[in-house]
Amino acid sequence: MNRNPFFFGEVVTGESFTDRTNEIETLTRELRGGHNIFLISPRRYGKTSLIINVLKRLKKEGLLTFYIDLYKVASLRELLEAYARGVARSYTTRVEKFSEFVKDVFPGLRPKIVIGSDGTPSIELDVHFRDKELLNSLEEVFDVPEKIARKRKKNFVVVFDEFQEILNLGGEKLEKKMRACFQHHHNVGYLFAGSKRHLISSMVSDPNRAFYKLGDIMNLKKIKHSEMIEFLQKQFSKGSIEVGENVLKYILRVSENVPYNVQYLCHHMWNWCLEEGKLKKEDVLEVLEKIINEQSVNYIAFWDGLSLHQRLFLKAISKFQNKHTFSKEFIMENYLGTAGSVQKSIALLKKKNIIDVEGKEIWFNDVFFKEWIKKRMI
Ligand SMILES: Nc1ncnc2c1ncn2[C@@H]1O[C@H](COP(=O)(O)OP(=O)(O)O)[C@@H](O)[C@H]1O
Ligand SMILES: [Mg+2]
Repeated sequence: MNRNPFFFGEVVTGESFTDRTNEIETLTRELRGGHNIFLISPRRYGKTSLIINVLKRLKKEGLLTFYIDLYKVASLRELLEAYARGVARSYTTRVEKFSEFVKDVFPGLRPKIVIGSDGTPSIELDVHFRDKELLNSLEEVFDVPEKIARKRKKNFVVVFDEFQEILNLGGEKLEKKMRACFQHHHNVGYLFAGSKRHLISSMVSDPNRAFYKLGDIMNLKKIKHSEMIEFLQKQFSKGSIEVGENVLKYILRVSENVPYNVQYLCHHMWNWCLEEGKLKKEDVLEVLEKIINEQSVNYIAFWDGLSLHQRLFLKAISKFQNKHTFSKEFIMENYLGTAGSVQKSIALLKKKNIIDVEGKEIWFNDVFFKEWIKKRMI
C-alpha cells in the first residue's frame, strides 16, 4: 500500500521531518548544558516539530524533559497544575518512587492513581490550588525541575511553546516571578518558543523587562530550497511518482516555501497523481485550485468578518510574493486613505491572525488564503 508520506498540521518526525541539522545541533548542545534559548519564527515554520525532535534526542541521552504548550492553557491555575503534574510525570512513572518524590518536593500534595482510557493505571499528582494560593505557589512549582535535576543528578530541559501567551496568563508580574526562579536554575535548560517575534524580542531585549538577557535568541528560518526539493523528491519517489525539479520549484513558489503549506500542497498532489505516476506543472495549479475551493467556506467566513478597509488592504498586499514592505507610495497607489486607517486595519488583521507584521514587513499567515483573495476577490 502506498501511504501518503506528506503530513501537515501535526508535529512531524522521522522521515517526514527534514533538515534542521544545525538547529538541532545547537539546541541540543545549549539545552543539555543548562542554557536558555528563545526560539522564534512565524507560525507553521516548524518550531514545534523541531522542539519535539530535540526533546526526543535529549531524552535518549538520559536527560529529563518537560514540554508545555501555552496555547492550551487558559489560566494561571491551569498553568501551575499542568506544570506540576507534567514535571512530576517526567520524573518517574513507578508508583513507589513517585510517592517518595512527592513527599520530598511537594509535601502538601497527594499522589493519585488514575486509570487511563485503555485501562492501564498510572500515577498522577492531585494538584488543585486555591485562588489565594496561586501566586505564592508559583515559586514552589517552578523550582521543582531544578530540585529534581539535583536529586537525580541529571539535567532537566523545560520547553514553553507559544511563550508569548504568558503575557495573557499573568502579565509582567508573572514574568518577573518566573525569572526570579529560573535565573537560579543551573541544572535546567529552558526553551521559550514563540510565533510573535515582536512580543518575544521585546521581552528579551528590553532592559526593563524580566527576561532581559536570560538566553540567546534563535530565529528559525524557512528550510533551504535545495534541502526541501531533495526531501520532496524522496517522498514522491515512495509512490514511484515521477516529478521534475522545475515542478518542485514551482510547488515551493506557490506555497512560498512555508513548510506547512508545502506539505499540505504535496499531500494533495500525491493523491492527485499517484495513479498516473507522474506530476506535471499543470497539476500543481489544478490541485491548488481544488484546495482553495475546499477552503472557501472558511475563507468566506474570514472575509465576512472584515471591514471594507481591511479587505482593501488585504487585496493590495496579496499581489506580492513573500513578505512585503509597505510605504507611503503603496498606500497612495492602492487608495488606502490615511496612514492612521491603515495602521488600524493592520492591528485588527494581526489580532485575527490573518497577517503578521515585523517592522515594515508584512505577510499572510496562510499563503493559500492569499491565493484565494487573488483568485476570487480581484
Ligand atoms: N523539518 C520539517 N520537515 C518537513 N516538514 C516540516 C518540518 N517542520 C515543519 N514541517 C511542516 O510544517 C507543519 C507545521 O509545523 P509545526 O512544527 O507545527 O510549526 P510551528 O510550531 O512553527 O507552527 C508540519 O505539520 C509539517 O507539515
Ligand atoms: Mg507550534
